[in-house]
Amino acid sequence: MSPIAGSVPDALGSYARFRGRHYLTDQDYTREELLDLLRLAADLKALWRGKVLTPFLPGRTLAMIFEHPSTRTRVSFEAGMTELGGHAQYLRPGEIHLPGRESIKDTSIVLSRLTQAIMARTAYRTSLVELARWATVPVVNGLTDDYDHPIQSLTDAFTIWETAGRFEGLKLAFLGKVSDAMASSVALTCTKLGVDVVLAGPSDHQMAPEMQALVRANCAQSGATLTLTEDPVEAVAEADFIYTVLWWWLEEGEAREALRRTYAPYQVNEALWAKAKPGARFMDCLPAVRNEEATDAIMDGPMSLCFDQSENRKHLQKAVLLALIGIDDLPADPDLAVIGRALLS
Ligand code: CP
Repeated sequence: MSPIAGSVPDALGSYARFRGRHYLTDQDYTREELLDLLRLAADLKALWRGKVLTPFLPGRTLAMIFEHPSTRTRVSFEAGMTELGGHAQYLRPGEIHLPGRESIKDTSIVLSRLTQAIMARTAYRTSLVELARWATVPVVNGLTDDYDHPIQSLTDAFTIWETAGRFEGLKLAFLGKVSDAMASSVALTCTKLGVDVVLAGPSDHQMAPEMQALVRANCAQSGATLTLTEDPVEAVAEADFIYTVLWWWLEEGEAREALRRTYAPYQVNEALWAKAKPGARFMDCLPAVRNEEATDAIMDGPMSLCFDQSENRKHLQKAVLLALIGIDDLPADPDLAVIGRALLS
């Protein structure tokens, strides 16, 4: 059994403070609130493993706006809503009036009238913020290409917690594209929760200074540390978790080849793993380009957590949706009583 299962407090309304809030960044939540979301995710995962149905949200709908493609985000949110007894709608450009034929404001107001939550994957953070500005239902960030992917990084924190049973005293090394939205999110979430972070990437492709400042502010609160290095061997030497992401996203042609050359020294492969701390675990939020940012031996090896990360998207997101949408009636099933009482406002 997971060291964190069965951990939602049996207290009426203990999750009521989440109801109606957006999840644009985990920076808007306290460390204790994030831990509460992880506790709820652990309990939902345990129920799912026990084949207990969890229809907390019957008749509720999640609108999912996707400006860019997705496998994990789409399927995990959609399956999660199904398992909660609700429904999710996949909306992409060309199938709704965004972008261009209707404003973000009007779209947000209409979706708020018709659904109980909105999840959005947008190219720009400004679009997500505008959506949330006009929404009267919770808005969840499903990745902004230019800034962050906090629902993935909170899932990654859940995976770390599930694996290690704690955050204190842990170190995560992020290798390669440390200027990426994913690196920013992993660094923000981990340092908020107390995990030391090492970013290993080329000196001319470092994390943006303003993002480093946010991460260091988290460190000042939690006692975690942020270290920047160009040396992948130094980065992995003391790391409990070694994280990487794909080196290119929507780039093509020579731009893609240039990124491959830039990040090649940061490939997570058998030679690098030989320098890692014994017992270290490998993480990649996926999608991956096989044998590019990490070799098959690592991705498919016993050290790999990458498919646990994918599965955990669903469990963590169910917790976030449940907490933000909330419930008005206790479910009849006694197996759901503790979570039900905690969610009641
Ligand atoms: N990690 C992640 O968000 O994957 P997708 O792009 O498939 O949703």
